[in-house]
Amino acid sequence: MAFTLLHHILCIALFFGFGLANAQFHRKFGSINPSTLPTIYVDASGYGNFKTIQSAIDSIPSNNSEWICIYIKAGEYREQVTIPKDKPFIYLKGEGKRKTSVVWDAHGSITTSATFTSEADNIVAKSITFRNSYNNPPTSNNQVLVAVAAWILGDKSAFYRCGFLGFQDTLWDHQGRHYFKLCTIEGSVDFIFGAGQSIYERSSLSVISRSENGGIGVITAQGRASKDEPSGFIFKNCNVFGSIQTYLGRPWRDYARVVFYNSTFSDIVAPEGWDIWNSGGRENQIMFAEHGSKGLGSNNTGRVAWEMKLDQKTLSTLTSMKFIDNEGWMSAQPFNMLA
Ligand SMILES: *[C@@H]1O[C@H](CO)[C@@H](O)[C@H](O)[C@H]1NC(C)=O
Ligand SMILES: *[C@@H]1O[C@H](CO)[C@@H](O)[C@H](O)[C@H]1NC(C)=O
Ligand SMILES: *[C@@H]1O[C@H](CO)[C@@H](O)[C@H](O)[C@H]1NC(C)=O
Repeated sequence: MAFTLLHHILCIALFFGFGLANAQFHRKFGSINPSTLPTIYVDASGYGNFKTIQSAIDSIPSNNSEWICIYIKAGEYREQVTIPKDKPFIYLKGEGKRKTSVVWDAHGSITTSATFTSEADNIVAKSITFRNSYNNPPTSNNQVLVAVAAWILGDKSAFYRCGFLGFQDTLWDHQGRHYFKLCTIEGSVDFIFGAGQSIYERSSLSVISRSENGGIGVITAQGRASKDEPSGFIFKNCNVFGSIQTYLGRPWRDYARVVFYNSTFSDIVAPEGWDIWNSGGRENQIMFAEHGSKGLGSNNTGRVAWEMKLDQKTLSTLTSMKFIDNEGWMSAQPFNMLA
């Protein structure tokens, strides 16, 4: 109770502290003020409405149609969490990506290992980390196996200041339109993969290894399967760093599409930049591109010849927010002004 009250006072103070009138707030940050949403509190030590995140989700009725916040107090929650298809409009809010985390260690299959599975449309998460602890942090005893930290398959889903930590196949950006801002995504092999239609903005991509000579990393394995498919991963103003040499990506399917725009690469990026994997002979169908790369890893002298040079029009189409949102779904979501 004390916690609830304090939280509300804090939110109201923050809200007015910025000195924005309501109408101004709505125009600038969307129509929903997150601090006034109905809220369910999760606290592992028993002071909230629920002790686990899943029980809070389970308490929301099927076919939910109004935004509801699940506020997750700082702590490590050891559970696999699923937001089922029939529970859209959930806003998961942690207390910080280094403070609130969900951790599980299932492995061996992409469809059963995810620590967090999000099947519903219209899901927002902020300030929370999803970790698959099988090989994160890296342990040299474990075999390298698929171990998904988050599987996102609903449409219209946004992640602000979230962490996604794993080793192989960390973030399954499977399908739907997604936005990631100020997130940290960590892994070693194909650690952002799938056929999502996504913009990653001002996010950190951290490449980890099991030893100093742990082979080569691969950041993305994008899964666009035909030229009519709208999927693609767009990285805007992102940072790539880590402890082993890495490819920016390899195609999981033959029309893979990945663009790094205005991003900063440490020296770990392999001179070739990209790997063709199983799509040899179909290089002309793959759209792997960079524009305005900076940092020690941006020297493009050694890049594969089939890296695509995008014209200005294609570049602005792909890097515009319209790529994922041409109907305004993002402004109808609870959007934190501090995000
Ligand atoms: C939810 O909506 C679906 C599709 O409209 C319907 O079949 C189902 O019965 C609804 N469930 C509940 C619990 O209302
Ligand atoms: C490019 O990135 C820099 C930071 O490295 C940022 O200051 C600048 O605004 C970005 N430019 C665009 C067009 O996003
Ligand atoms: C880029 O890499 C090439 C080949 O390794 C090297 O000759 C060149 O000096 C590098 N350029 C810069 C600006 O570091």
